[in-house]
Amino acid sequence: MPDRIAPDALERWMQAVLEASGLEPAAAETVAVSLVDANRRAVDSHGVARVPTYSERLRAGLVNGRPRPRVERENGAVALVDGDRGPGQVAGVLATDHAIELARRHGVGVVSVHRSSHYGAAGYYAIRAARAGMLGISTTNSEPFVIPYGGIGRALGTNPIALAAPTPDGIFDVDMATSQVAVNKIFNARDEGRTIPDGWGVDEQGQPTTDPAQVHAAVPLGGYKGYALAVLVEVLSGALAGAGVGHTVGSLNEGGETQDVGHFHLVIDPDRLAGRARFAEALGGLLEALKAMPVAPGHDEVLVPGEPEARAKAERERDGIPLPPTLWTTLEALSGELAVSPPGR
Ligand SMILES: NC(=O)c1ccc[n+]([C@@H]2O[C@H](COP(=O)([O-])OP(=O)(O)OC[C@H]3O[C@@H](n4cnc5c(N)ncnc54)[C@H](O)[C@@H]3O)[C@@H](O)[C@H]2O)c1
Repeated sequence: MPDRIAPDALERWMQAVLEASGLEPAAAETVAVSLVDANRRAVDSHGVARVPTYSERLRAGLVNGRPRPRVERENGAVALVDGDRGPGQVAGVLATDHAIELARRHGVGVVSVHRSSHYGAAGYYAIRAARAGMLGISTTNSEPFVIPYGGIGRALGTNPIALAAPTPDGIFDVDMATSQVAVNKIFNARDEGRTIPDGWGVDEQGQPTTDPAQVHAAVPLGGYKGYALAVLVEVLSGALAGAGVGHTVGSLNEGGETQDVGHFHLVIDPDRLAGRARFAEALGGLLEALKAMPVAPGHDEVLVPGEPEARAKAERERDGIPLPPTLWTTLEALSGELAVSPPGR
């Protein structure tokens, strides 16, 4: 059984590690809170397992430790944000909040971000908009790691898409990579010495492999349709923002390059369309109808998107976040290097 840690203790620890890596306190808090939010929701691929990479990139000067993201251009409901080469979370939060503000004024807000870096879980930004009573959509591109359908080699990011909106009793969200799985699930398996299921990755020759150490590229979700969705995300997040696209997005995990990741944030005020209450009721009714469908053999129940994460969040906020022993050891070693005191296990 992995040891567990209280979410707020993990936030404080990760904030201290990021600060000691050169990120100023307010930005370090933003990044730590967003990563631990992913762990709270059991999206461990985009939680604190990413901190060693973030720390290395901050120390190497590849990510700006004193970022000043700003609205560079604005016209009506549309704005472009310069991420100032800082952590994607800092630009992503600023862009989402600005899109919410635009949606309050105009009914819709579209904010694109360029000159940014990895922003973590796309759902974090969509859910932030939903908490403000809006429908939020967020996409980002990422370093090329996914094969084009029918091809060999890395061409596209794992390019997630997230949507969230208020329901009568909470928030609905969908948050998914357009590759078969988020690539960090492959990296986490490699770091923890586990094999991966068939169909997640291919080697340099384009052959399927279950050994995460042999994975050269990830596979698009559901064949050519996931490939098409990944291209859609490059268009929205990269091309529209004037950020990198495909091969012009720098690598996060390999080599010393800056990224120029692009993010796309679309916020819509449902009050300007169906009306806030009617929209929430329609969405809530749809979710109820889905959950009431007969259960297929081999399944216990019908879940709706976002439900696994919501359940995990309730459990982890009560019992703590489980950290695999290898990750805990890595974070302790990093803390030692940076003269940060880790919490006891
Ligand atoms: N920043 C980046 O560059 C980047 C790139 C790729 C992915 N990501 C992030 O990685 C995270 C994980 O992505 P993923 O695709 O591996 O997620 P996933 O496959 O675990 O889940 C995808 C979606 O399916 C839903 N789901 C899961 N099981 C379900 C079930 N039984 N019934 C109904 N719905 C179900 C989930 O609630 C979720 O909305 C996301 O937060 C994503 O934003 C980030």
